[in-house]
This record gives sequence, C-alpha cells and structure tokens, in this order.
Amino acid sequence: MSSKRHILTAVAWPYANGPRHIGHVSGFGVPSDVFSRFQRMSGNHVLMVSGTDEHGTPIQVLADQEGVTPRELADRYNQVIAEDLVGLGLSYDLFTRTTTGNHYAVVQQLFTALHDNGYVFTHTTKGAVSPSTGRTLPDRYIEGTCPICGYDGARGDQCDNCGNQLDPIDLIGPRSRINGETPEFIDTEHFMLDLPAFAEVMGRWLEGKEGDWRPNVLKFSRNLLEDLQPRAVTRDLNWGVPIPLDGWDENPNKRLYVWFDAVIGYLSASIEWAKRTGDPEAWRLWWQGGDAESFYFMGKDNIVFHSVIWPAILLGASGEGDRGGDPGPLGELDVPSEVVSSEFLTMEGQKFSSSRRVVIYVRDFLQRYSADALRYYIMAAGPETQDTDFTWSEFVRRNNDELVAAWGNLVNRSVSMAAKNIGHVPEAGELTGEDEQVLAASRAAFDAVGTRLERSQFKAALQEAMRTVAEANKYISDQAPWALKKTDPERMATVLHVALQLVKDANTLLTPFLPESANKVHAMLGGEGQWSGMPRLETGHDTIGGSEEAVDYTVITGDYAEDVARWNSEPIKPGTPLERPKPLFAKLDQSVVDEELARLRGEID
Ligand code: MF3
Ligand code: ZN
Repeated sequence: MSSKRHILTAVAWPYANGPRHIGHVSGFGVPSDVFSRFQRMSGNHVLMVSGTDEHGTPIQVLADQEGVTPRELADRYNQVIAEDLVGLGLSYDLFTRTTTGNHYAVVQQLFTALHDNGYVFTHTTKGAVSPSTGRTLPDRYIEGTCPICGYDGARGDQCDNCGNQLDPIDLIGPRSRINGETPEFIDTEHFMLDLPAFAEVMGRWLEGKEGDWRPNVLKFSRNLLEDLQPRAVTRDLNWGVPIPLDGWDENPNKRLYVWFDAVIGYLSASIEWAKRTGDPEAWRLWWQGGDAESFYFMGKDNIVFHSVIWPAILLGASGEGDRGGDPGPLGELDVPSEVVSSEFLTMEGQKFSSSRRVVIYVRDFLQRYSADALRYYIMAAGPETQDTDFTWSEFVRRNNDELVAAWGNLVNRSVSMAAKNIGHVPEAGELTGEDEQVLAASRAAFDAVGTRLERSQFKAALQEAMRTVAEANKYISDQAPWALKKTDPERMATVLHVALQLVKDANTLLTPFLPESANKVHAMLGGEGQWSGMPRLETGHDTIGGSEEAVDYTVITGDYAEDVARWNSEPIKPGTPLERPKPLFAKLDQSVVDEELARLRGEID
C-alpha cells in the first residue's frame, strides 16, 4: 500500500437507553476499532466517528417508564456509554450525540436537499393510536405477526426474525406492547423517501461489491433492492429533529424518523470533528471523491439502514437518483464503500436481555477482567460471520491458554531471559538456517495478517498472528537458550536476539486487537513515544435536544495521529536496556466460571 488513503470508519450509534453489554460491543465496537488501528498503522488517514443515538421510541419508551424526560435519559446514557467505550479502548476520533445543534442542522440540510430534488413527498397513511388514551402509539410499541415470515413477535417497525422493515398496519393481529389493547389506525400525513427512485443506481453500486463484501451482507442487501417501496421518514412523536419546512417545523408532534436522523450522524459527526480541529472543511477528505473510502460497522439488524436507506439519502441529496437534481449545500457525498455487519452473540445459550438479566455489562466485565481479554475473546470467538455464544468457560480457557500461556509467556520468558542474562537487547551473531527461517516467517505474517484485516476477516487475521506466537514459542523451546548460558553464551545471545525480534513482530501484529498490552510490550522493549493511542473523554459545547442555550456534553476523542506503531517488522535495537517484566495477563482461576454462572442466575451480585 503505497499512497495514503482516507478511511472513514463509521461505527453504528448505540441507543442511549442503557449501559452497553458485551453483545452490543461485539457487533459494532471491537471490530471497528481493530480495523481502524490497523489502517492507522498502515499509514492511512482514519476518521472514526459515532455517538449515542438519542431520539425515537427506544428512548421515549424508557424515559416514560422511568418518569424522566427523554433529554434527561439521553444525557445520562450518553455519559455512561462513552465511559463504557473508552474502557474498551475504542479509538474514536469523535464519539458524539445525535442531539447536538450541529447534528440537527446537518440532518435538516440533507432533508431539504432531498425535498428540493423531489425525493421526499407527502403521503397520508394510517397511524396507530391507543383507543384508551388517544395518544399516538409509536411503531415499536406495537407487536403482532410478521406478514412476511409469520413470526409472532414482530414489532411495528421491523421483524427481528426476517429482518424486514414493516409498517405497523401490516402486522397481523396488532397489539399494544404497553397494555395489550388493539390499536386504532387513523389518518396522518408523513413524508416518504422515494426508495424506488434509487433502485437502479443502488443496483449498479452493489454490482461492484461482489467478492468484496461479506457474502451474507451482500446477498441480504441485494434482496432488499428487489422490492423497494417508499418509506416514511417522519413520525408522530415529539422527540426528534424538527422537519425543516413551513407548516411542519411548528408542529411539536411531527419529527423526522430516528433512523433518518441517526444515519446522518456519520456525516454530522465528521463535520463536528472537523470544527473541533479548527479546519471546518477537513471532513470533505473522507466524504467526497478521490481517495475517500468508508467502512460501516454494525450488527446484522442494522444492515437495511446502511445498505439501502443511508445510500438513498446520500444519493438523493447529491441529485443522483432517477429524478436527477442538484447536490445540496454540502456538495456531492459518497455512498458506503463497504457495509461490514456481524451476526449476533448469545450468552450461555440465551439471547442477551437486560430485563431478564441475561447480560454482562461492559463496565462490570472491566471491573473484574481486562479490556484486552474481552477484545481477544470477541475477535477470536465472536459473531463475525455466524451467530456465536459467549460462555464463561470458553472465556477462561482462551484467556489462560492463548493470552497467558502462549502470548504472555512468550513475552515474559524472552524479555526475562535477556534482562537477567544480558541486561539489554543483545547483538545477533551469525544467524543459522533456523533463525533465518523463523524471522522470515514472522516478516511474511505482516502481509498475511494485513490482507485479512483489510477485508475485515478478523478471526483469520488473529489466527495468523497467533500462529507466529506459537512458532516463536517453538523456536525458543527448540533452541533452549537457557542451556547455552555456560556452553555457548554467544549463541545464547543470538537466540535471545531472534526471540526478541519475534516478540516485537508479534506485538505489532497483535496491536490492533490488544492495544493496551501492546503499549506495555512496546515499553518493555525500550520503545519510545506513543505506540497505539488510547481514547479519552473530553467535552463538546453545543445546544442539546433543541435547547436554547449551548451546554457542555461528553465526547470521546484521541490523538492517534501521534502513534508510532507501523505495520511492518521494525528491527530491534541492540543495546536497549531491559528489565524483568511484569506478567502481561492475569491467569483466571476455574472458580471464575462457577462464580459468573451463579451471578447470571442471580445468586450473587
Ligand atoms: N441505534 C441503532 C441500534 O442500536 C443503531 C444506529 S446506527 C446509525 O440498533 F447509523 F443509525 F446511527
Ligand atoms: Zn418476519
């Protein structure tokens, strides 16, 4: 990879309706961070953005239940979620919120561009109201049987079984999730996004993705194009971005649909990031033409919004659908290069559920175990291309066998032996065939692991990286440097030199997966500067939720441009002083499994 690319890592926005559990972060979180760190190490310009998704019914529902305003709820969970994600070391350039004034303005600009180009039109539909209260009943509050697949727990907005988007009125046997009553459907006027007008361009766009995207994502997206219908992009709700048109903006009960505003967050967050850097136009490098590429990370229930709705918004606002038109004030905007979607994670054989307490929250996890241990598990055993199950016994096994016994041990024994016997990185004498071979294999791994990371094949990439760890361990065992101390100290020094080079290479290969421990190994080997940067909390300043006054709010950001980690085999420097290292990872006792299972059963807290 010679020339630098501009890579937008667009990470799905978590709903601000509770702390994150490990199922959430296995879909959008850890994979997007591994990808971004790898791309930065490859010398590319990465912009990684996201934030909390704060509008719509999921927030409204919970706020009602808790007797607070949606704004109060969003304020609380924006903070909580930002802390969760920082704890995991997710290297966002900007993690913000969908309630900022900046976001409202960008959303309204895109809506206006779509409206000017004729890609949204009004339509009178039937909206659900609760007969007992007379209040509108948001889509998610309604459930019934899916008209497409027959699944009985389908919601009014979407069927979680077949993944199709629904209208509540299409549900068979609709009922309110609040009190079970049958909703009444009355006339209500909404804006529709004319999806059929993009079928052709989107078809051509997806054509070009064959062999590039994960096959299941591509197939799912193609199927969606077969039967495109106009979709409502407004809702009867008072919590959301106002519709920027005369006669509509004054109506407190009509708002843009949460999914319409949320996907635009990728763009508004990029713009907010650029403003923060002092170069307000800088976002364009990731969104317009030339060498800009964009990779979107999410769980599979989000595919339709990223491979159909979001591209349609971008194309329509750029004047590129069947009806043509002009680009809006922001100019032409690029559609996604790749939609990278994960499948679902279950927990000890069950669906995650906060209400049924089948859950482990990121914050609780991080109180007892390290972020890298969780990141490792998710990348090695997570739901990359099929649903997978998190079990505590497998977590403990992988931690102990793979992190502690394989990688941690390689680092520990190589650095300890060199520190104890030599005190610094030794000079290599003449290299044997075995030395050359293991070093060459280690160098070759950068290509092997890199090609896989480039294609978001994380499991395969991690396996390759861990293979070099196994080979290095075997090399040390075969060469037995401890036995050479008396007989052939020069050869011992050479073996330790090779071993430390293998440690350095493996550490580089593992950096995207295990950034915290990679920084430690970098320091152990006498490395200087920031190896792979960690995120931190800062504040932003803007209006929130349409407030009059600007206020401070929490964001995640970081200085990753200063990272010294590069994706290649960097020679170690003989003479660098070495100290006896502390263990990289903690071994977990088998009792952890029983303890965690008891916790899951609610027997201890
Ligand atoms: N909040 C949504 C979810 O958790 C994801 C939104 S992604 C965005 O499923 F693109 F819309 F922001
Ligand atoms: Zn269905």
